[in-house]
Amino acid sequence: FSIKVPNGPLTSKLQHLKVGDPVMIGKKPTGTLVLDNLLPGRHLYLLGTGTGLAPFLSIIKDPETYDRFEKVVLVHGCRQVQELAYGETITQTLPRHEFLGEMIANQLIYYPTVTREPFRNRGRITDLMSSGKLFEDIGLPNMSIEADRFMLCGSPEMIRDTREMLTGLGYQEGNHGEAAHYVIEKAFVEK
Ligand code: A2P
Repeated sequence: FSIKVPNGPLTSKLQHLKVGDPVMIGKKPTGTLVLDNLLPGRHLYLLGTGTGLAPFLSIIKDPETYDRFEKVVLVHGCRQVQELAYGETITQTLPRHEFLGEMIANQLIYYPTVTREPFRNRGRITDLMSSGKLFEDIGLPNMSIEADRFMLCGSPEMIRDTREMLTGLGYQEGNHGEAAHYVIEKAFVEK
C-alpha cells in the first residue's frame, strides 16, 4: 500500500516502479511506528484500519519484533471483506517463510474484522477492545499496562478514539527519545 503524493520526493518515483526494478532500502526504519519507541512488554498489538495495514506488513516481517514480544497481534479493520488485503499472505505465505516462518507461526495472531457486511469477526476495533471480545477471541488476557503495547495506524477517527481509550486507562504515548506504551502514525492524523 502506498499513497501517491503529487511531486512527493518518494512516491512520485515509487509509483512508476515495475516488477523487477532494483530498489535500495536503508536498514533504519523512520517514523513513529518503530519498536524502539515502545517499552518492553509481552504482547504487541498492531491496530490498523484500511490501508493503515501498510507499516505493519514490515513490522511482522522483522525478527526483532518476535524477539521483543511473546505474541504479536495484527488487527485489521475494514468496512468490507474485499478490503482485507494481504490476509492470505499473512496466514498462508508468511508462516512458511524460510527464515521467519517458525516465529510467525508461533507468535503472530491475525485478527481481521469487518464493520459493514457479514464476516466471522465483526465490529470496530475500539468496540472489540472495550467489550473484551478481541481478547476473548484470540485467547489473550484483557488489556494491561504491564503486558500490552500498541501501534495504531489508519482512520484518523479510529486513532483518535483508541488513543482516548488508552489514555483514559493510563497508557502513555511513546516517541523518539522516550519509549512508552503506545505509538501512532502521525502522517495519517495530521492530515
Ligand atoms: P465503520 O464502518 O463502523 O465506520 P474508513 O474506511 O472510514 O477509513 O474506515 C475503516 C474502518 O475503520 C471501518 O471498519 C470503520 O468502521 C472503522 N472506523 C471508523 N471510525 C472508527 C472509530 N472512530 N473507531 C474505530 N473504528 C473506526
